[in-house]
Amino acid sequence: MKHLTNKRILLGVTGGIAAYKSAELVRRLQDQGASVRVVMTQAATEFITPLTMQALSGYPVHLNILDTETESVMGHIELARWADLILIAPASADFIARYNGGLGNDLLTTVCLAAECQIAIAPAMNQAMWSNNQTQANIRAIETSNVLLFGPESGLQACGEIGQGRLLDVDSLVQKVSQFFPSTILAGKKVLITAGPTREAIDPVRYISNHSSGKQGYAIAEAAVEAGAEVILISGPTNLTPPERIQTIDIISADDMLAAVLAELDGCDVFIGVAAVADFKPVAVAEQKIKKNSDQTVQSMRIELKENPDIIASVAKTQPRPFTVGFAAETENLTQYAKTKLKKKNLDMIIANNVADKAIGFNSENNATTIIWPTGEKVLPQMSKRNIASKIIQTIAEKLAAKTSPSDTNR
Ligand code: PMT
Repeated sequence: MKHLTNKRILLGVTGGIAAYKSAELVRRLQDQGASVRVVMTQAATEFITPLTMQALSGYPVHLNILDTETESVMGHIELARWADLILIAPASADFIARYNGGLGNDLLTTVCLAAECQIAIAPAMNQAMWSNNQTQANIRAIETSNVLLFGPESGLQACGEIGQGRLLDVDSLVQKVSQFFPSTILAGKKVLITAGPTREAIDPVRYISNHSSGKQGYAIAEAAVEAGAEVILISGPTNLTPPERIQTIDIISADDMLAAVLAELDGCDVFIGVAAVADFKPVAVAEQKIKKNSDQTVQSMRIELKENPDIIASVAKTQPRPFTVGFAAETENLTQYAKTKLKKKNLDMIIANNVADKAIGFNSENNATTIIWPTGEKVLPQMSKRNIASKIIQTIAEKLAAKTSPSDTNR
């Protein structure tokens, strides 16, 4: 299982003989599914070439803070924002001192200053430099400022001395990085998610739709990516920015959504229908804008509607079928109606969503739901849509694992 799928690691390489090990480190982090970008200090380039690191990482290597070319491609602020974790390996005594002093006198220290993500430092230096009082004071200071310290270990050093100061071996570094990202519950799984409303055209300027903002569906897509899944998001029209790391397919109508879902279903492990799909569409779409009736005594008009295809029910009928999760947007008899839909649409799980309360449901920041599966249910009290999303993903992962396990008795 790949523990670092979708994770973005910024590897900082500083000057020291152990810098050659950072090449292997890039490969091993990638083997675990991570994307790795590299920032090197000037001294590091004396030990290993940027070309090597570029070829291995697959990205341009970042060297100088005042390099107009790299700043325009991905400047220091973007680099800091891009990373889920910044790992400095090897970290020299000089870098550690500059970091502890809050200096921003090269690209790497500047990126660290701008970073809001976790920083981990893997020191590597001669044993006397490591035990030097000043270095130890710097290490104690950065540890108390919430920096993770990976190593160093003890052993024979490049200088021929024996003692503490060796860079932690590459296996252990990768393991420590993996431990920092514990949530890999959906690693290797393909998850297809629908979100937002659909629009059903009446004429070229008018449509039937609903109040879905896409916020809950997008949050679920983000939570699935955080859990290590490959995520495809099929979205109706929303005002949201397509999430990074997620392939987003934009659609308009229920028919478009069905076509996109069926096209992406192959190899899908989990399908989550968060979209508020319009149940009905006009029987005929007027080719031109419908004009007001010139007869002022007639103040009503009729639009004949027909049912849209039921997307989630179609998914549940496929063979092999993914673990299929629906949402039930209800204004009354919440759990009772949701349970009926669970059975009728042949779903593995349904999330009952009260859309009568304006503080939760459509277009709100918060939500409150009940997760229902054939043999049980779990109430999620009011919280942010993001938190609801990670709890839903957690429950789906548990039930999916139980379903694929032969000892399962929970369904
Ligand atoms: O987008 P937000 O503003 O954040 O709001 C989130 C939400 C309220 C839209 C969301 O949490 C939610 O409840 N989505 C389901 C809305 C809905 O259409 O519910 P339903 O009870 O009508 O449909 C039941 C299930 O069938 C849903 O999974 C729906 O996607 C699916 N369906 C419905 C009709 C249809 N023709 N095809 C479908 O696949």
